[in-house]
Amino acid sequence: MELTKYEQDMYDGEYGEGKAECMEILVSLGKIYDAPKMIPITSAQVSGVSYKTIGDAGLDFVVDLGKKADVELECMLNPAGVDIENWEELGFSEEFTKKQVDIIKGYESIGVMSTCTCTPYLIGNTPMINEHVAWSESSAVCYVNSVIGARTNREGGPSALLGAIVGRTPYYGNHLLENRTADMIFNVDADINSDINIGALGYFVGQIVNDKKPYFRLNSNPGRNNLKLLGAALASSGAVSLYHVENITPEADYARVHESFDQLEEVTITQKDIDETISQLSTTDKLPDLVCLGCPHASITEIQEVAYLLKNRKLKRDLWICTSKAINSISKQCGYLDIIESAGGKIVSDTCMVVAPVEDLDYEVIGVNSAKAANYVPNMANMDVVYDSVENLIDMITE
Ligand code: F3S
Repeated sequence: MELTKYEQDMYDGEYGEGKAECMEILVSLGKIYDAPKMIPITSAQVSGVSYKTIGDAGLDFVVDLGKKADVELECMLNPAGVDIENWEELGFSEEFTKKQVDIIKGYESIGVMSTCTCTPYLIGNTPMINEHVAWSESSAVCYVNSVIGARTNREGGPSALLGAIVGRTPYYGNHLLENRTADMIFNVDADINSDINIGALGYFVGQIVNDKKPYFRLNSNPGRNNLKLLGAALASSGAVSLYHVENITPEADYARVHESFDQLEEVTITQKDIDETISQLSTTDKLPDLVCLGCPHASITEIQEVAYLLKNRKLKRDLWICTSKAINSISKQCGYLDIIESAGGKIVSDTCMVVAPVEDLDYEVIGVNSAKAANYVPNMANMDVVYDSVENLIDMITE
């Protein structure tokens, strides 16, 4: 692999042992994928933050790295295992919380921003089109590639972090324009104007394409919130890291005029496909005892929608809306937090229903409006799940 002088110096240890180790790993990774060089990146997003998923080995890795090198660019974390400001009220253990705080402090000690979210693009970590970044949360990777048009591979948490330390990532895969064309066309003849329908579409198509790049022809514009749900679902049932939506996403035109486009297989998606997927995603008919929204982390307009639905109503079961600390703080300023708390709900910061140890709490059934959450909750938390729209879930748990 061809390295610049600065990269070679980092590799040779001129900038310290930590950067040299990072370069060595990234160069080896690049060689596996035939990367001809490294490419400078402008931001990173690091998964592998929850103590539930990385355990003591992950904590040791972060502490060890903290002794050797700092990150040199904008770098945010994926959701943690607990809301570290409200863990007690939510019912999480002190022991778990302490471990989680140590992990976050470890990242913070090397210059990583300690905000923990899977929607960093909603709170300022928002690259421009064609910018190279190294992100690892699969739903965020899908969003930043597809909706923003920046370029990242589906990094692992460690490779994104190493990239943040040396400001580079191997140049292969989604970083190359010629790899950003479409692989399969989906003509969608179905209603996709709701959270659960668009999620079901993503879940259904993800199973078909796996890590290929779908090109959608939709009959309406889903909007940013639903594109977020679409990408998360595509990346959870499959391993999609980039999709195109005709006339909507920034590189759809590039994919459509590419010489390969006319030869692509076309598939029609019907309402039956969507409806069947929706029913498959619920594992029970029971009422949820906890409704968890915000997978991926909720935007301010999604929180606004819930606040409007809850105005002058009372919840009879628990409701969490998962989001970043920053969006939580905006929702407080806008008065949405007040409405939600008056109804008995909570906005939970910097964690989520999948990476938090919800299985340790007294819940049996979780209601979600995210196909990704519906996919993961039964396995990660060993609980039943109800997959339904925000409106229906709120109706199920209000007096
Ligand atoms: Fe985010 Fe957790 Fe869903 S990390 S995408 S809210 S599973």
